[in-house]
Amino acid sequence: MPYDDIIAAATGDPDSFWSAAAGELAWTRRWDHVLDATGHPSGRWFAGGQINTCYNALDRPIDAGRGASPALIYNSAMTGAREIYAYSALRERVARLAGARVAAGIGRGDRVVIYMPMVPEAVIGMLACARIGAVHSVVFGGFAPAELAARIDDARPKIVLSASCGLEPGRIVAYKPLLDRALALAKHPVPLRVFLQREQGPATLGQAGELDWQSFEAGGEMVGCTPVAATDPLYILYTSGTTGRPKGVVRDNGGHAVALHWSMQALYGIDPGDVYWAASDIGWVVGHSYIVYAPLLRGATTVLYEGKPVGTPDAAAFWRVVAEHRVKVLFTAPTAMRAIKREDPGLQLAAGFDLSSLQALFLAGERCDPDTLQWAGEALKVPVIDHWWQTETGWALTGNPRGLGLLPVKPGSAGRPMPGWRLDVVDDSGQSMPRGDVGKIVCQLPLGPGALTTLWNDEQRFRKDYLDPVPGCYLTGDAGTIDADGDVFVMTRIDDVINVAGHRLTTGSIEEVLASHPAVAECAVVGRRDELKGEVPFGFVCLKLRPGEPAPDNVVDELVQLVRERIGPVAVFKAAIVVPRLPKTRSGKVLRRTLRQIVNGEAWETPATIDDPAVLDDIARALGAAV
Ligand code: COA
Ligand code: AMP
Repeated sequence: MPYDDIIAAATGDPDSFWSAAAGELAWTRRWDHVLDATGHPSGRWFAGGQINTCYNALDRPIDAGRGASPALIYNSAMTGAREIYAYSALRERVARLAGARVAAGIGRGDRVVIYMPMVPEAVIGMLACARIGAVHSVVFGGFAPAELAARIDDARPKIVLSASCGLEPGRIVAYKPLLDRALALAKHPVPLRVFLQREQGPATLGQAGELDWQSFEAGGEMVGCTPVAATDPLYILYTSGTTGRPKGVVRDNGGHAVALHWSMQALYGIDPGDVYWAASDIGWVVGHSYIVYAPLLRGATTVLYEGKPVGTPDAAAFWRVVAEHRVKVLFTAPTAMRAIKREDPGLQLAAGFDLSSLQALFLAGERCDPDTLQWAGEALKVPVIDHWWQTETGWALTGNPRGLGLLPVKPGSAGRPMPGWRLDVVDDSGQSMPRGDVGKIVCQLPLGPGALTTLWNDEQRFRKDYLDPVPGCYLTGDAGTIDADGDVFVMTRIDDVINVAGHRLTTGSIEEVLASHPAVAECAVVGRRDELKGEVPFGFVCLKLRPGEPAPDNVVDELVQLVRERIGPVAVFKAAIVVPRLPKTRSGKVLRRTLRQIVNGEAWETPATIDDPAVLDDIARALGAAV
């Protein structure tokens, strides 16, 4: 069915549309309502139904005869390892690990924190949760102990799954000391910690509650799947909000499985047996949805890649994987393409690889600049599709549905709405704006299947952040426009979230860290444009100095180190300047927008509300001297 007909069907009769999509999965109890919109503003999908996501991701494909087909290909550019797991082999490991958890007293609704590098056991750990109805919360390995501790305190897990180390170019990241520090910082005690020992950097285990993964898993009896309510949580994934406190996005089982399964064919054009590679990390939503769940729900083969697009060892790393495993569709972030383009603009390094299997490149995580889109299309000679995503939505709000027949690609646009997302652009008073005007992008309620159902432990914040600002709508937090053809252009965030190499960070949390330094009186952090990473954080700090006292030489270095220690290397906080004062309105609000314009070399005007216009000139001068 062509795109317009699909949208008409999904909008005109969503119950029939999504009921048909859900019918392709296995349920232990059919739903009472496709969408129960009573009592909850964002709706409850497949209320009354019972399902198991792991069953649908592993057992159902096996029942359909795919037991011997590859489910997961592990390719590590860091160690040279290659492992291929058939569906039945993957199920065996998942079922055994799930059994070990059950024996350890972990069951439906219990939380499991996973702090792991990109190894098969991380995927096995996630699926083993789904199998027994436990709720996983994966924490990205690039976060520091304090961030991990905050997530542990919020999720209150019974167990943490980890590994002895992660591998980054040129260094081994020992995870156990990081986890130990996090546990010392957290108030919530975690009775069980299971570590996968990696030969590149084994950990010393021995404290109470510390277990070795291999013996833990081996001691488990294989277990079947526990049916859970379609509306039960499958996972919590923390993401940046407008404050330093992360938000625990909660995903359900039923709506999530249905939406992801539908998207694999319709959006990505993937059939059972095809090889699909999302070059992301399991710590991000793209990794959850398109490394782990969606390809398996579709009976396809997923690639789990440990490495970078460049430097591991070179800018042909992606092409090596595509050629070796006959990848049909590749999904990554524009920043990865920019990194490759910078090192190998003519794609000469790709010449030795057979890329004939590749049929499309999907990009998301940040706006794809038209230059990169065009370069990738010309270099790879396949359609390059930008699509717009959020941790909250779990899959693409907009895209170009390859499986339904591609629409014309418009560089700069992230495509058209996917079914379930009824988008609008509104002004500051919440009124719809004419096509082509730029405003806040909202989505009419109830939300489609796959979207977040609440924030963990914080329904109030869920309503306050997303639902209250524009009544009847979900506020995406992005600004942009929809043109006359219905193509959506996502341009910028409307809050203090910045996007660093496709990773979402809040400047507020970096400011909290800077402000905790004893020499800092006040500070502001804004996003500075970066050719490779899109944006990187840049700090302005005022110090507690007596009149005439010079700023200590090493304060910026100390601040850089502090952010690395508290938030983690992923924040990429590397630059700040000391300024005498911050620009503020007469009511005391820091003028971050103007700071952003100045740091990015854009034209700026002195806001009428500023209390002292001379401050801006001081800052522009200080910045000029610093760069
Ligand atoms: N564990 C520990 N540290 C990690 C880490 C992890 N899992 N992931 C990243 N880091 C560290 C890196 O080692 C680096 O530390 P450094 O400052 O000591 O060098 C820092 O965090 C920043 O990492 P990264 O953003 O990966 O930057 P990079 O300079 O190493 O690589 C790119 C640049 C563009 C190649 C890389 O950012 C990239 O591949 N981006 C794609 C992002 C992506 O897939 N996003 C998902 C959305 S789809
Ligand atoms: P995350 O929740 O980490 O996936 O980040 C989501 C945010 O990344 C969105 O709210 C956007 O600001 C940005 N983003 C993701 N994909 C795109 C895209 N294709 N175009 C523009 N912005 C994007």
